[in-house]
Amino acid sequence: MTEEICEPLQPEDFVVQPVVDVSPPKWHLAHTTWFFENFVLKSNLKDYKLFDKDYHFLFNSYYETEGDRWVRSERGALTRPWVNEIMAYRKYVDEHMRHFLQDCELDEALSDVLTIGIHHEQQHQELLVYDIKHILGINPLFPTYKPFNGPKEKPILEEKYLKVTEGVYDIGYEGSAFHFDNEEGRHKVFLHGYQILDRLITAGEFMEFIEAGGYEDHNHWLMEGFEWAKKETIKAPFYWFKEDGVWKHYTLAGLEEVNPNEPITHINFYEADAFAKWKGKRLPTEFEWEVACKKYQPEIPDSANFLDQRHFRPMPRVGNEYQFYGDVWEWTNSAYQPYPFYQKVEGALGEYNGKFMINQMVLRGGSYATMKDHIRPTYRNFFHPHLRWQFTGLRLAETL
Ligand SMILES: [Fe+2]
Repeated sequence: MTEEICEPLQPEDFVVQPVVDVSPPKWHLAHTTWFFENFVLKSNLKDYKLFDKDYHFLFNSYYETEGDRWVRSERGALTRPWVNEIMAYRKYVDEHMRHFLQDCELDEALSDVLTIGIHHEQQHQELLVYDIKHILGINPLFPTYKPFNGPKEKPILEEKYLKVTEGVYDIGYEGSAFHFDNEEGRHKVFLHGYQILDRLITAGEFMEFIEAGGYEDHNHWLMEGFEWAKKETIKAPFYWFKEDGVWKHYTLAGLEEVNPNEPITHINFYEADAFAKWKGKRLPTEFEWEVACKKYQPEIPDSANFLDQRHFRPMPRVGNEYQFYGDVWEWTNSAYQPYPFYQKVEGALGEYNGKFMINQMVLRGGSYATMKDHIRPTYRNFFHPHLRWQFTGLRLAETL
Protein backbone atom coordinates (compact mmCIF):
# COMPACT_ATOMS: atom_id res chain seq x y z
CA MET A 1 0.00 0.00 0.00
CA THR A 2 2.82 2.42 0.85
CA GLU A 3 4.33 1.93 -2.58
CA GLU A 4 0.94 2.08 -4.28
CA ILE A 5 0.33 5.50 -2.70
CA CYS A 6 3.57 6.67 -4.33
CA GLU A 7 2.75 5.28 -7.78
CA PRO A 8 1.40 8.53 -9.28
CA LEU A 9 4.55 10.43 -8.23
CA GLN A 10 7.35 11.55 -10.50
CA PRO A 11 11.00 11.32 -9.36
CA GLU A 12 11.21 14.97 -8.26
CA ASP A 13 8.07 14.60 -6.11
CA PHE A 14 9.89 12.13 -3.85
CA VAL A 15 12.57 14.55 -2.69
CA VAL A 16 11.19 17.93 -1.61
CA GLN A 17 10.23 19.10 1.87
CA PRO A 18 8.28 22.36 1.46
CA VAL A 19 7.88 22.84 5.26
CA VAL A 20 9.37 21.11 8.28
CA ASP A 21 6.19 19.12 9.00
CA VAL A 22 6.18 17.54 5.54
CA SER A 23 8.64 14.72 4.96
CA PRO A 24 9.80 13.77 1.47
CA PRO A 25 7.91 10.65 0.26
CA LYS A 26 11.32 9.03 -0.21
CA TRP A 27 11.98 9.46 3.50
CA HIS A 28 8.66 7.80 4.49
CA LEU A 29 9.49 4.83 2.26
CA ALA A 30 12.87 4.38 3.91
CA HIS A 31 11.89 5.18 7.50
CA THR A 32 9.02 2.64 7.64
CA THR A 33 11.45 0.02 6.29
CA TRP A 34 14.12 1.04 8.81
CA PHE A 35 11.59 0.33 11.57
CA PHE A 36 11.45 -3.36 10.60
CA GLU A 37 15.16 -3.63 9.95
CA ASN A 38 16.11 -1.96 13.20
CA PHE A 39 13.52 -3.30 15.63
CA VAL A 40 12.96 -6.78 14.16
CA LEU A 41 15.66 -8.07 11.82
CA LYS A 42 18.82 -6.59 13.30
CA SER A 43 18.55 -8.35 16.64
CA ASN A 44 16.43 -11.38 15.74
CA LEU A 45 17.46 -12.74 12.35
CA LYS A 46 20.70 -14.67 12.63
CA ASP A 47 23.54 -13.32 10.48
CA TYR A 48 21.38 -10.45 9.19
CA LYS A 49 23.52 -7.85 7.45
CA LEU A 50 22.34 -4.26 7.37
CA PHE A 51 21.46 -3.06 3.87
CA ASP A 52 23.55 0.05 4.46
CA LYS A 53 25.17 1.02 7.76
CA ASP A 54 24.46 4.76 7.20
CA TYR A 55 20.70 4.34 6.90
CA HIS A 56 20.27 4.09 10.66
CA PHE A 57 21.45 7.69 11.02
CA LEU A 58 19.37 8.90 8.05
CA PHE A 59 16.07 7.16 8.77
CA ASN A 60 15.71 7.11 12.55
CA SER A 61 12.94 9.65 13.10
CA TYR A 62 12.97 10.67 16.76
CA TYR A 63 14.15 7.73 18.86
CA GLU A 64 16.73 9.05 21.32
CA THR A 65 17.30 5.47 22.46
CA GLU A 66 18.53 4.72 18.94
CA GLY A 67 21.16 7.45 18.96
CA ASP A 68 22.05 10.35 16.65
CA ARG A 69 20.05 11.07 13.53
CA TRP A 70 19.80 13.45 10.60
CA VAL A 71 17.97 16.67 11.46
CA ARG A 72 14.26 16.56 10.64
CA SER A 73 14.07 19.98 8.98
CA GLU A 74 16.76 18.98 6.45
CA ARG A 75 15.24 15.73 5.20
CA GLY A 76 14.46 17.42 1.89
CA ALA A 77 18.07 18.53 1.42
CA LEU A 78 19.22 14.99 0.67
CA THR A 79 19.18 13.89 -2.96
CA ARG A 80 20.96 10.66 -1.98
CA PRO A 81 20.16 7.85 -1.43
CA TRP A 82 17.98 8.20 -4.50
CA VAL A 83 14.57 6.62 -4.93
CA ASN A 84 15.74 3.44 -6.65
CA GLU A 85 18.18 2.72 -3.84
CA ILE A 86 15.41 3.14 -1.29
CA MET A 87 13.14 0.84 -3.30
CA ALA A 88 15.97 -1.72 -3.28
CA TYR A 89 16.22 -1.24 0.49
CA ARG A 90 12.50 -1.98 0.84
CA LYS A 91 12.83 -5.09 -1.30
CA TYR A 92 15.82 -6.31 0.70
CA VAL A 93 14.07 -5.85 4.04
CA ASP A 94 10.81 -7.33 2.72
CA GLU A 95 12.62 -10.45 1.56
CA HIS A 96 14.41 -10.86 4.86
CA MET A 97 11.18 -10.32 6.77
CA ARG A 98 9.47 -12.98 4.68
CA HIS A 99 12.33 -15.37 5.32
CA PHE A 100 12.34 -14.53 9.03
CA LEU A 101 8.59 -15.03 9.44
CA GLN A 102 8.68 -18.41 7.72
CA ASP A 103 11.32 -19.83 10.01
CA CYS A 104 10.72 -18.34 13.41
CA GLU A 105 8.38 -18.83 16.31
CA LEU A 106 7.31 -15.36 17.35
CA ASP A 107 7.24 -14.78 21.08
CA GLU A 108 4.74 -12.29 22.44
CA ALA A 109 7.18 -9.41 22.77
CA LEU A 110 8.45 -9.73 19.22
CA SER A 111 4.94 -10.21 17.89
CA ASP A 112 3.99 -6.91 19.58
CA VAL A 113 6.91 -5.10 17.94
CA LEU A 114 6.02 -6.51 14.55
CA THR A 115 2.39 -5.47 14.96
CA ILE A 116 3.43 -1.95 15.97
CA GLY A 117 5.68 -1.90 12.88
CA ILE A 118 2.67 -2.60 10.67
CA HIS A 119 0.48 -0.02 12.39
CA HIS A 120 3.38 2.43 12.29
CA GLU A 121 3.64 2.01 8.53
CA GLN A 122 -0.12 2.50 8.21
CA GLN A 123 0.18 5.78 10.11
CA HIS A 124 2.90 6.81 7.68
CA GLN A 125 0.65 5.90 4.76
CA GLU A 126 -1.74 8.55 6.00
CA LEU A 127 1.09 11.05 6.52
CA LEU A 128 2.28 10.30 3.00
CA VAL A 129 -1.08 11.35 1.59
CA TYR A 130 -0.95 14.61 3.63
CA ASP A 131 2.57 15.26 2.46
CA ILE A 132 1.95 14.43 -1.19
CA LYS A 133 -1.04 16.78 -1.14
CA HIS A 134 1.16 19.54 0.31
CA ILE A 135 3.96 18.94 -2.19
CA LEU A 136 1.59 19.04 -5.17
CA GLY A 137 -0.91 21.53 -3.75
CA ILE A 138 1.47 24.45 -3.32
CA ASN A 139 2.53 24.11 -6.95
CA PRO A 140 0.79 26.73 -9.15
CA LEU A 141 0.25 24.04 -11.80
CA PHE A 142 -2.03 22.21 -9.32
CA PRO A 143 -1.11 18.75 -10.61
CA THR A 144 -3.61 15.92 -10.30
CA TYR A 145 -2.61 13.08 -7.99
CA LYS A 146 -5.61 10.83 -8.77
CA PRO A 147 -8.71 11.81 -10.74
CA PHE A 148 -11.94 11.48 -8.82
CA ASN A 149 -14.93 9.85 -10.53
CA GLY A 150 -17.24 9.16 -7.61
CA PRO A 151 -20.47 10.89 -6.69
CA LYS A 152 -20.08 14.44 -5.44
CA GLU A 153 -23.51 15.82 -4.77
CA LYS A 154 -25.33 14.69 -1.68
CA PRO A 155 -27.25 17.45 0.05
CA ILE A 156 -26.56 17.82 3.74
CA LEU A 157 -29.69 17.64 5.80
CA GLU A 158 -30.70 19.77 8.75
CA GLU A 159 -28.71 20.27 11.94
CA LYS A 160 -29.47 17.41 14.26
CA TYR A 161 -28.02 17.14 17.75
CA LEU A 162 -27.55 13.91 19.70
CA LYS A 163 -28.18 14.10 23.44
CA VAL A 164 -26.12 12.47 26.17
CA THR A 165 -27.31 12.61 29.75
CA GLU A 166 -25.21 13.62 32.72
CA GLY A 167 -23.28 10.76 34.28
CA VAL A 168 -20.06 8.87 34.88
CA TYR A 169 -18.75 7.15 31.76
CA ASP A 170 -15.98 4.69 30.94
CA ILE A 171 -13.25 6.00 28.64
CA GLY A 172 -10.44 4.13 26.91
CA TYR A 173 -9.83 0.93 25.03
CA GLU A 174 -11.31 -2.35 26.19
CA GLY A 175 -10.74 -5.59 24.31
CA SER A 176 -7.97 -7.74 22.93
CA ALA A 177 -7.38 -6.32 19.45
CA PHE A 178 -4.46 -4.04 18.64
CA HIS A 179 -4.55 -0.57 20.17
CA PHE A 180 -1.95 2.02 21.11
CA ASP A 181 -0.71 2.59 24.67
CA ASN A 182 -2.21 6.11 24.70
CA GLU A 183 -5.80 4.77 24.55
CA GLU A 184 -5.23 2.07 27.18
CA GLY A 185 -6.36 2.11 30.81
CA ARG A 186 -10.12 2.13 31.09
CA HIS A 187 -11.08 4.91 33.49
CA LYS A 188 -14.07 6.99 34.54
CA VAL A 189 -14.99 10.54 33.67
CA PHE A 190 -17.93 12.61 34.75
CA LEU A 191 -19.78 14.45 32.00
CA HIS A 192 -22.46 17.06 32.36
CA GLY A 193 -25.39 16.55 30.03
CA TYR A 194 -24.54 17.75 26.52
CA GLN A 195 -25.54 17.52 22.92
CA ILE A 196 -23.34 16.95 19.92
CA LEU A 197 -23.91 17.34 16.18
CA ASP A 198 -24.59 14.05 14.37
CA ARG A 199 -22.37 15.04 11.43
CA LEU A 200 -19.36 17.09 10.47
CA ILE A 201 -19.43 20.81 9.69
CA THR A 202 -19.47 21.38 5.94
CA ALA A 203 -17.42 23.59 3.65
CA GLY A 204 -20.59 25.58 2.93
CA GLU A 205 -21.11 26.33 6.61
CA PHE A 206 -17.47 27.36 6.96
CA MET A 207 -17.86 29.63 3.92
CA GLU A 208 -20.58 31.48 5.83
CA PHE A 209 -18.11 32.09 8.66
CA ILE A 210 -15.60 33.54 6.19
CA GLU A 211 -18.17 35.72 4.43
CA ALA A 212 -19.45 37.01 7.79
CA GLY A 213 -15.93 38.33 8.54
CA GLY A 214 -15.18 35.53 11.00
CA TYR A 215 -11.43 35.68 10.44
CA GLU A 216 -11.35 39.41 11.23
CA ASP A 217 -13.47 39.45 14.40
CA HIS A 218 -11.29 38.86 17.49
CA ASN A 219 -14.37 38.05 19.57
CA HIS A 220 -14.43 34.49 18.21
CA TRP A 221 -10.76 33.75 18.62
CA LEU A 222 -8.31 32.55 21.19
CA MET A 223 -5.57 35.16 21.41
CA GLU A 224 -2.91 32.75 20.18
CA GLY A 225 -5.10 31.87 17.21
CA PHE A 226 -5.91 35.48 16.33
CA GLU A 227 -2.22 36.36 16.46
CA TRP A 228 -1.47 33.39 14.21
CA ALA A 229 -4.11 34.42 11.67
CA LYS A 230 -2.87 38.02 11.62
CA LYS A 231 0.79 37.12 11.37
CA GLU A 232 0.23 34.60 8.58
CA THR A 233 -2.52 36.72 6.91
CA ILE A 234 -4.88 33.76 7.01
CA LYS A 235 -8.37 34.40 5.62
CA ALA A 236 -9.51 30.89 4.63
CA PRO A 237 -8.64 27.20 5.13
CA PHE A 238 -5.36 25.89 3.73
CA TYR A 239 -5.52 25.27 -0.07
CA TRP A 240 -8.47 27.68 -0.44
CA PHE A 241 -8.49 30.85 -2.50
CA LYS A 242 -11.08 33.01 -4.19
CA GLU A 243 -11.04 33.42 -7.94
CA ASP A 244 -13.60 35.67 -9.68
CA GLY A 245 -15.78 35.60 -6.59
CA VAL A 246 -15.76 31.80 -6.38
CA TRP A 247 -14.08 29.73 -3.66
CA LYS A 248 -11.71 27.17 -5.08
CA HIS A 249 -9.39 24.70 -3.42
CA TYR A 250 -6.72 22.22 -4.30
CA THR A 251 -7.86 18.59 -4.01
CA LEU A 252 -5.92 15.44 -4.84
CA ALA A 253 -7.88 15.44 -8.10
CA GLY A 254 -6.60 18.96 -8.93
CA LEU A 255 -8.06 22.44 -8.56
CA GLU A 256 -11.82 22.50 -8.00
CA GLU A 257 -14.63 24.76 -6.99
CA VAL A 258 -15.38 24.10 -3.30
CA ASN A 259 -18.30 21.71 -2.91
CA PRO A 260 -20.36 23.17 -0.04
CA ASN A 261 -21.68 19.72 0.94
CA GLU A 262 -18.28 18.22 1.65
CA PRO A 263 -16.98 18.30 5.22
CA ILE A 264 -14.71 21.28 5.83
CA THR A 265 -11.07 20.29 6.06
CA HIS A 266 -7.58 21.82 6.35
CA ILE A 267 -8.45 23.99 9.31
CA ASN A 268 -6.36 24.08 12.44
CA PHE A 269 -7.52 23.98 16.05
CA TYR A 270 -7.74 27.79 16.27
CA GLU A 271 -10.00 27.99 13.22
CA ALA A 272 -12.19 25.11 14.42
CA ASP A 273 -12.53 26.75 17.83
CA ALA A 274 -13.30 30.18 16.33
CA PHE A 275 -15.97 28.70 14.06
CA ALA A 276 -17.61 26.94 17.02
CA LYS A 277 -17.68 30.17 19.03
CA TRP A 278 -19.10 32.11 16.09
CA LYS A 279 -21.90 29.54 16.03
CA GLY A 280 -22.50 30.08 19.75
CA LYS A 281 -21.35 26.53 20.46
CA ARG A 282 -18.05 24.83 21.34
CA LEU A 283 -15.88 21.89 20.35
CA PRO A 284 -16.61 18.63 22.17
CA THR A 285 -14.03 17.25 24.58
CA GLU A 286 -12.45 13.97 23.52
CA PHE A 287 -14.51 12.24 26.23
CA GLU A 288 -17.79 13.71 24.95
CA TRP A 289 -16.84 12.60 21.44
CA GLU A 290 -16.01 9.05 22.55
CA VAL A 291 -19.15 8.60 24.66
CA ALA A 292 -21.42 9.92 21.89
CA CYS A 293 -19.69 7.79 19.28
CA LYS A 294 -20.01 4.60 21.37
CA LYS A 295 -23.65 5.39 22.12
CA TYR A 296 -24.81 6.36 18.64
CA GLN A 297 -22.42 4.69 16.18
CA PRO A 298 -20.38 1.94 17.85
CA GLU A 299 -20.05 -0.04 14.61
CA ILE A 300 -18.05 1.37 11.73
CA PRO A 301 -20.36 1.54 8.70
CA ASP A 302 -19.33 0.20 5.28
CA SER A 303 -20.05 3.61 3.81
CA ALA A 304 -17.32 5.21 5.96
CA ASN A 305 -14.51 6.61 3.92
CA PHE A 306 -11.02 5.15 4.36
CA LEU A 307 -7.75 5.03 2.52
CA ASP A 308 -8.68 1.45 1.60
CA GLN A 309 -11.48 2.86 -0.57
CA ARG A 310 -9.18 5.37 -2.26
CA HIS A 311 -11.60 8.27 -2.64
CA PHE A 312 -8.84 10.68 -1.62
CA ARG A 313 -11.36 13.27 -0.42
CA PRO A 314 -13.87 13.67 2.39
CA MET A 315 -17.32 12.61 1.20
CA PRO A 316 -20.63 14.30 1.89
CA ARG A 317 -22.57 12.10 4.27
CA VAL A 318 -25.15 9.71 2.91
CA GLY A 319 -28.74 10.50 3.90
CA ASN A 320 -29.24 10.92 7.62
CA GLU A 321 -26.65 8.50 8.88
CA TYR A 322 -24.31 9.54 11.65
CA GLN A 323 -20.87 10.62 10.55
CA PHE A 324 -18.30 9.72 13.18
CA TYR A 325 -15.61 8.02 11.13
CA GLY A 326 -13.36 8.30 8.18
CA ASP A 327 -13.87 11.67 6.51
CA VAL A 328 -11.75 14.11 8.50
CA TRP A 329 -10.14 14.02 11.92
CA GLU A 330 -12.14 16.09 14.37
CA TRP A 331 -10.50 18.64 16.61
CA THR A 332 -11.59 18.24 20.21
CA ASN A 333 -11.16 20.69 23.04
CA SER A 334 -8.96 18.24 24.95
CA ALA A 335 -5.25 18.58 25.48
CA TYR A 336 -3.26 15.44 24.66
CA GLN A 337 -2.41 14.02 28.07
CA PRO A 338 -1.79 10.57 29.53
CA TYR A 339 -4.83 8.73 30.86
CA PRO A 340 -4.72 8.01 34.61
CA PHE A 341 -3.32 4.48 34.21
CA TYR A 342 -0.99 5.25 31.31
CA GLN A 343 2.15 3.12 31.30
CA LYS A 344 5.12 3.76 29.11
CA VAL A 345 6.53 0.60 27.58
CA GLU A 346 10.20 -0.27 28.15
CA GLY A 347 12.84 0.59 25.57
CA ALA A 348 12.78 2.62 22.36
CA LEU A 349 9.09 2.02 21.64
CA GLY A 350 8.27 3.80 24.90
CA GLU A 351 9.10 6.90 22.85
CA TYR A 352 6.24 6.19 20.44
CA ASN A 353 3.44 8.19 22.10
CA GLY A 354 4.16 9.34 25.64
CA LYS A 355 6.83 11.91 24.95
CA PHE A 356 4.51 13.84 22.64
CA MET A 357 1.95 14.55 25.37
CA ILE A 358 2.61 18.29 25.53
CA ASN A 359 1.12 21.28 23.71
CA GLN A 360 -0.97 19.19 21.34
CA MET A 361 -4.73 18.73 20.98
CA VAL A 362 -6.54 15.41 20.58
CA LEU A 363 -8.40 14.60 17.38
CA ARG A 364 -10.94 11.81 17.04
CA GLY A 365 -12.63 9.85 14.27
CA GLY A 366 -10.30 9.32 11.33
CA SER A 367 -9.81 10.75 7.86
CA TYR A 368 -10.19 9.57 4.29
CA ALA A 369 -6.47 8.77 4.38
CA THR A 370 -6.73 6.65 7.54
CA MET A 371 -6.49 2.90 7.16
CA LYS A 372 -9.55 1.04 8.42
CA ASP A 373 -7.43 -0.69 11.11
CA HIS A 374 -7.03 2.70 12.78
CA ILE A 375 -10.69 3.60 12.95
CA ARG A 376 -12.24 2.99 16.37
CA PRO A 377 -14.08 5.01 19.02
CA THR A 378 -11.07 5.11 21.38
CA TYR A 379 -8.28 6.06 18.91
CA ARG A 380 -6.48 9.25 19.89
CA ASN A 381 -4.75 11.27 17.21
CA PHE A 382 -2.91 14.47 18.14
CA PHE A 383 -1.48 17.54 16.47
CA HIS A 384 -0.18 20.94 17.44
CA PRO A 385 -2.97 23.55 17.34
CA HIS A 386 -1.52 25.64 14.48
CA LEU A 387 -1.14 22.80 11.95
CA ARG A 388 -3.56 22.35 9.08
CA TRP A 389 -1.95 20.40 6.29
CA GLN A 390 -3.54 17.26 7.77
CA PHE A 391 -7.14 16.27 7.03
CA THR A 392 -8.91 17.96 9.92
CA GLY A 393 -12.39 19.33 10.54
CA LEU A 394 -14.91 19.63 13.34
CA ARG A 395 -18.34 19.06 14.80
CA LEU A 396 -20.12 21.20 17.38
CA ALA A 397 -21.27 20.50 20.91
CA GLU A 398 -22.89 22.34 23.80
CA THR A 399 -23.59 21.75 27.45
CA LEU A 400 -27.22 21.26 28.33
FE1 LIG B 1 7.60 6.99 12.20
